[in-house]
Amino acid sequence: MNSNTSFRRIPVASPDIGDEEKELLIKVIEEGLISGTSPYVKEFENTFSSWLGVNHAIAVSNGTAALHLALMALGIGPGDEVIIPDLTFAAPANMVLAVNAKPIFVDVTREYWCIDPEQIRKRITPKTKAVIIVHLYGHPAKMDEIMEIAERHGLYVIEDCAEAHGAEFMGRKVSTFGHAGVFSFYANKVITTGEGGMVVTNDDELADRIRLIRDHGMRPRYWHVVLGFNYRMTGLQAALGVAQMKKIDKLIERKRRIARIYAEELRDIPGIELHPEMPWAKSIFWLYSVLIDSRKFGANRDQIAEYLARHGIETRRFFYPLHVMPLYRQYTEDKISYEVSGYLSERGLNLPSGPKITEEEVTYVVEIIKKLQGELHT
Ligand SMILES: Cc1ncc(COP(=O)(O)O)c(C=O)c1O
Repeated sequence: MNSNTSFRRIPVASPDIGDEEKELLIKVIEEGLISGTSPYVKEFENTFSSWLGVNHAIAVSNGTAALHLALMALGIGPGDEVIIPDLTFAAPANMVLAVNAKPIFVDVTREYWCIDPEQIRKRITPKTKAVIIVHLYGHPAKMDEIMEIAERHGLYVIEDCAEAHGAEFMGRKVSTFGHAGVFSFYANKVITTGEGGMVVTNDDELADRIRLIRDHGMRPRYWHVVLGFNYRMTGLQAALGVAQMKKIDKLIERKRRIARIYAEELRDIPGIELHPEMPWAKSIFWLYSVLIDSRKFGANRDQIAEYLARHGIETRRFFYPLHVMPLYRQYTEDKISYEVSGYLSERGLNLPSGPKITEEEVTYVVEIIKKLQGELHT
């Protein structure tokens, strides 16, 4: 293939929406079943809960709302501390602040980039009420150790699976370990409803509270018993979700195949460290990611990203460590070390790897990376 095909544009992730989604969407419109009380919402919830093997799935307007609901329904509030990883998209930190609790940032592991159980242990105080686990970039956190710590200290565990639909820890799907699991169906996720989210749990009472708060905290209608919101998912979103669920396993398999191709092709390039997958993990490689050692590669992460952009290839830098940002700095103590999140954040690069990417496009991305390396070493 000619590497000068710079007219190409390869996004980091684009959704796989086909005829089935279109047909169902038109059907829902024609039937007028578009609101949050649509039977398609129930159908999406039922399909999702069976796929995970959990008792309850509650569809909501987005993943951030799902986190807010889980925290509220668990009764997290002022005076409480909630442990979260320092390296993540910021929604968990924001929702901890939204319920007036204090976020406690802890470092992640060098091996697989998720929250470090050892660091959780060190930051537990009498005020700690919950831990939010983020299965980062598709790789599961170490759920056996985390659940053991949580049980010993009486902590709630919320699994944030926004980036990890179908990822597994020791053969069991994430979201089924903690007291609640939350998902996002934003357009760049494994399956999408445009915007959308889900809270899952096996706890009947918790599910009931989540449903109540999702719908204005009113029961019966117009009678308000707790503070609530309108966090309902629409029938339009749910129709997309129902159609997407028919291919979720295929999409996950495709993402794993894309990851294998990247790993195979990038393995021997000096200065590129591949996206890990621990022996106990099944990652879904939400975004296939690499770490760049600038000395060995000859260019740093941002220079590589810029070069790829010039060839029409979109990438993303890793998230910033939460503790360094203006909004969160006040919750950080100087003596705490966040060595790993800083290290990964400086070097991490998300490569194009959405459900719609073709193998030919992956090969093109690799070719451009090799082209840059060739230029640097001649
Ligand atoms: C780890 C994590 N949690 C929560 C969210 C928030 O989800 P949403 O964008 O649907 O509100 C995201 C973002 O997409 C995320 O990556």
